[in-house]
Amino acid sequence: MNEIRSDNGTILEVENLKKYFPIRRGFFQRINSWVRAVENVSFQIARAKTLGLVGESGCGKTTVARLILKLLAADGGQILFNGQDITQLDEKEMKPLRKEIQIIFQDPYGSLNPRMTVGQSIAEGLKIAGIHSRSQQEQRLEKLLKMVGMSPASSDRFPHEFSGGQRQRVGIARALSVEPALIICDEPVSALDVSIQAQIINLLKDLQRQLQLSYLFISHDLNVVGYLCDMVAVMYKGQIMEYAPTDALFDDPIHPYTHLLLSAIPDVDRNNDTEMNATADEPGRTLNPADGCSFQDRCPLAENRCRHDLIEFEQTGPDHLVRCWKTARDGTDSFL
Ligand SMILES: Nc1ncnc2c1ncn2[C@@H]1O[C@H](COP(=O)(O)OP(=O)(O)OP(=O)(O)O)[C@@H](O)[C@H]1O
Ligand code: SF4
Ligand SMILES: [Mg+2]
Repeated sequence: MNEIRSDNGTILEVENLKKYFPIRRGFFQRINSWVRAVENVSFQIARAKTLGLVGESGCGKTTVARLILKLLAADGGQILFNGQDITQLDEKEMKPLRKEIQIIFQDPYGSLNPRMTVGQSIAEGLKIAGIHSRSQQEQRLEKLLKMVGMSPASSDRFPHEFSGGQRQRVGIARALSVEPALIICDEPVSALDVSIQAQIINLLKDLQRQLQLSYLFISHDLNVVGYLCDMVAVMYKGQIMEYAPTDALFDDPIHPYTHLLLSAIPDVDRNNDTEMNATADEPGRTLNPADGCSFQDRCPLAENRCRHDLIEFEQTGPDHLVRCWKTARDGTDSFL
């Protein structure tokens, strides 16, 4: 892809990341085809900024997260964290870096042990962060709970005793306990009521300001992405289709798939926390895709060339990249 400028203000850089999953069939479980879950994905996250990764279900968002966290081995590409290539690091080499990159899940049960009190869960993180004295742990625990808007008394309770929004606050406190630099938020509000979503999003914003955190914010909700993110990467069938500063993406979307996502929002108001659902009607999964553009079957502008050529990124503005030979040159007015 075209170069996306890198400087020492970059905390994470992902370059041509790849992950294919085999599909096995039959008695001998032979590999029958491949899911190209992540195909040459590249992006950067600037320090204390948020990159939104948006796309419909199955397009590969969580796989990208798992690759960055090194819960999955990449089949190709590079992951640079703070300028260090972590792609090939083994578990032992990754250990000191593990606390630097944390994840918040849609369901905070993913990071909270249901048999531990909130205090015990957070204290585990504090030990990893090197805080071993009991009194220091208690002070820090109280501070963390306060930071996420919970009372100190919450520390003696179990995760199931809280509402979804409160549990997500605890999940955030657990992630913060190890003092990370980067937090991957994988659909952290999509299971919550709209009013609660806004509270959690505002909390994430406040924490970013206070602690200079960087976020990779994964969502299918363009309203939330527009409100929270500085840059947005639109993903379809394992590939990034459009990558742009948030204002440029909303004010001047270029890729036909971005138009499709935006048209699925009843009213895009980025200062408003109204609910919207940007999923389109087909799953984004891909098995051994045909040649050419992966969006060809749904694109109103598809031409012969789209079915055969390798479609690469084209630069259409400062940090604005589009994977479409046609709209990058002609614009999209013709089908709007
Ligand atoms: N371990 C695995 N083995 C085989 N296929 C997998 C595996 N993990 C993910 N996939 C496939 O890879 C593709 C991308 O999945 P992924 O979970 O990354 O999508 P997603 O964008 O996070 O979707 P959602 O919005 O539903 O969470 C899907 O087709 C999925 O079925
Ligand atoms: S390359 Fe062709 S099929 Fe793909 S988005 Fe552009 S016009 Fe549509
Ligand atoms: Mg996912």
